[in-house]
Amino acid sequence: VRRRASVGGADPEEEGATATARGGLEDVVVGDSSISFVEGEEGRLSYRGYAIADVAERLGYESTVQLLVTGEPPGEDPPPELTRSLARRRRLGPGPASVADALAPGLPGMDAFRTLLSALGDGLYPYPPTVEQGLDLIAQAPTALARYVRRSSGLDPVEPREDLGHVEHFLYLLEGQRPDSERARALERYFVLVADHGMNASTFTLRIVVSTQSDLVSAATAAVGALKGPAHGGAPARVVEMLDRIGTADRAEAWIGDALRRRERIMGFGHRVYKTEDPRAELLREIARNVAEPERFALAQAVEEHALRALRRARPDVPLYTNVEFYAGVVLEAVGLPRDLFAPTFALARTAGWVAHALEQAEHNRLIRPDVRYTGPARRTSDTLPGGKGRPSLAAPSAGGRRS
Ligand code: COA
Repeated sequence: VRRRASVGGADPEEEGATATARGGLEDVVVGDSSISFVEGEEGRLSYRGYAIADVAERLGYESTVQLLVTGEPPGEDPPPELTRSLARRRRLGPGPASVADALAPGLPGMDAFRTLLSALGDGLYPYPPTVEQGLDLIAQAPTALARYVRRSSGLDPVEPREDLGHVEHFLYLLEGQRPDSERARALERYFVLVADHGMNASTFTLRIVVSTQSDLVSAATAAVGALKGPAHGGAPARVVEMLDRIGTADRAEAWIGDALRRRERIMGFGHRVYKTEDPRAELLREIARNVAEPERFALAQAVEEHALRALRRARPDVPLYTNVEFYAGVVLEAVGLPRDLFAPTFALARTAGWVAHALEQAEHNRLIRPDVRYTGPARRTSDTLPGGKGRPSLAAPSAGGRRS
């Protein structure tokens, strides 16, 4: 923690005072990273120095994995070597496959995914993490999820094949047939756009676990736990639920007004770092425009407009703009994924960033172990503990008198 910030307590500039973070570690810099750069005031995001719009236009998911994990873009897209390498790693070992088959059907998607991911780590991922381990994780996580989803619906799992790209292959594993190219391309662009994002909550969680010299799969499993919440990756499913509840554009204004009066949060708006529109929101809006049903897209746009206006009115003091999750929900729905798979699909895309961060953390590792300001009782004497002088012992007679 390099920045001095304080929340409701000691002046950090006081002699001897320790720098104290604001609630939620806002504005605290917890270390160095060269993977992705979020410039919140300007609304910019880059991967290894490349603007996200250029990455999304020029690179598919395998190239993005290569860029994030190695630091350099491939010479061609898709990169032949890495694409082959990921494709060859898709098959599950008997352990993870049997876990996918044994899990109770119908679990909430993220709960199932957390267990499935954890099962990949059956002794095969010793510390420190390696690129090979990372590629195994990225390649096998979709196979495990799709196997469970099919079993859960009473369908046989689909055998992985090696001749399809990573994202198209995920849809193939889920559906048992090649998806049409428009859907596959839309989902692949989504994967690229959310592959990494600075020191977000799940990535920080992963880095903390790696810093203890624990293994990559344990770290990624912990990260899934962080991603699950609606303040992070759980928002897109709630966005489309909100669109359903609103129903038609003419109801948007009243619905949002009521929600804000109840002090509810409008899903898909607001961000810790961006003080303007999230650049991924703009790109996802265009993808949604192309793949969503025109009526659905028009409803989403109307809700967005009313929400922005209402948030500005209700909270002129807080910069609240559209975040990545608003149109992510619309895109994932248009691609045909069930809502329960929105968050696990986000996690699959984010495995690229998690692997890059795990390698970076391990390279210059030091245990992440912050301090906390103690706010409990002042030092007390043992007199007040059971058996102490200031407190009757448990065996002492009650106020009602001595019994003989
Ligand atoms: N709708 C309504 N009010 C919102 C809001 C939203 N989407 N996002 C933030 N606010 C308000 C909060 O109520 C808070 O008001 P308060 O100070 O009176 O309590 C203020 O703006 C600051 O919010 P805070 O929770 O301190 O910001 P944060 O940086 O901790 O939170 C998010 C960021 C993303 C968790 C938050 O904006 C949010 O909950 N958004 C909705 C969920 C979402 O879209 N998640 C996906 C994130 S990519």
